[in-house]
Amino acid sequence: MNIQPISPQKCATLIQQSKMTIALSGAGISTAAGIPDFRGPGGIFSTGKYDGQLVFDIDHFHHDPSEFFRFTRDLAATVDKLQPTFTHEFLARLETAGLLEAVVTQNIDPLHAMAGSQRVVSVHGSYATSHCLACGKSYDYQQLLALLGQQEIPRCDCESQGLIKPDVVFFGEAVTKMPEAQSLAAQSELMLVLGSSLTVYPVAMLPGLAGGAVVIVNTQPVQLPPAPNRYFAAQSLDSFFRQVATEIF
Ligand code: OAD
Repeated sequence: MNIQPISPQKCATLIQQSKMTIALSGAGISTAAGIPDFRGPGGIFSTGKYDGQLVFDIDHFHHDPSEFFRFTRDLAATVDKLQPTFTHEFLARLETAGLLEAVVTQNIDPLHAMAGSQRVVSVHGSYATSHCLACGKSYDYQQLLALLGQQEIPRCDCESQGLIKPDVVFFGEAVTKMPEAQSLAAQSELMLVLGSSLTVYPVAMLPGLAGGAVVIVNTQPVQLPPAPNRYFAAQSLDSFFRQVATEIF
């Protein structure tokens, strides 16, 4: 693979020289905040705590949503105690300094917004809103939480008592905001790929559309099609970006 190791100093230089930088984040950016990723060691698909095939499968959800709501209750129980990581905050600081155009995230946690990032493209949706699958009524996050406290499976107060589904993208559903993400990728001079296994499509194709350099930071190897200007740092995100930050700020 045509991929070169990169130091924090070189990464800082690329950020300072680029006129159009975007970040593509995955679950690995939030592990240091206490949210397990999916496929890393200790990830929710690896530990067997949830059935990875079923949690986000849209056909299974229609048939039996209990596994998804078990996952949702566990996530909701942690959200109030969450703090963004150093890397979330670093990305927000870069944006404020005019050095980052946008964060494209696969994550459904709210940590980028909590850190202060303004332009966050949530390609896998979020829990901010939910909808009744029968009548389309919209529920905000607080209303969903209230229903989860009252009912095993949240249902709408409409005539059909429809199932309420958070606006999170499931396997088998269209990925929202891909046109915006693709356009950002194509315009980018630098793409920072942070804590994603790059195994879930169509998001995993975004680095292949990048207009310039791609820097991947991940504690584990990541497969990428060969291309020039590909860099890899085999480090934990917070440790790598603490060093990058000292060069920039
Ligand atoms: P994965 O769990 O597949 O990958 C997370 C990656 O982050 C792994 O490669 C880890 O090695 C790495 N990692 C974990 N902690 C790290 C740290 N502190 N520093 C550096 N690297 C770290 O997560 P995603 O690629 O985001 O989809 O998964 C993609 C999609 O799969 C998710 O959005 C979700 C899931 O099914 C939906 O919910 C639709």
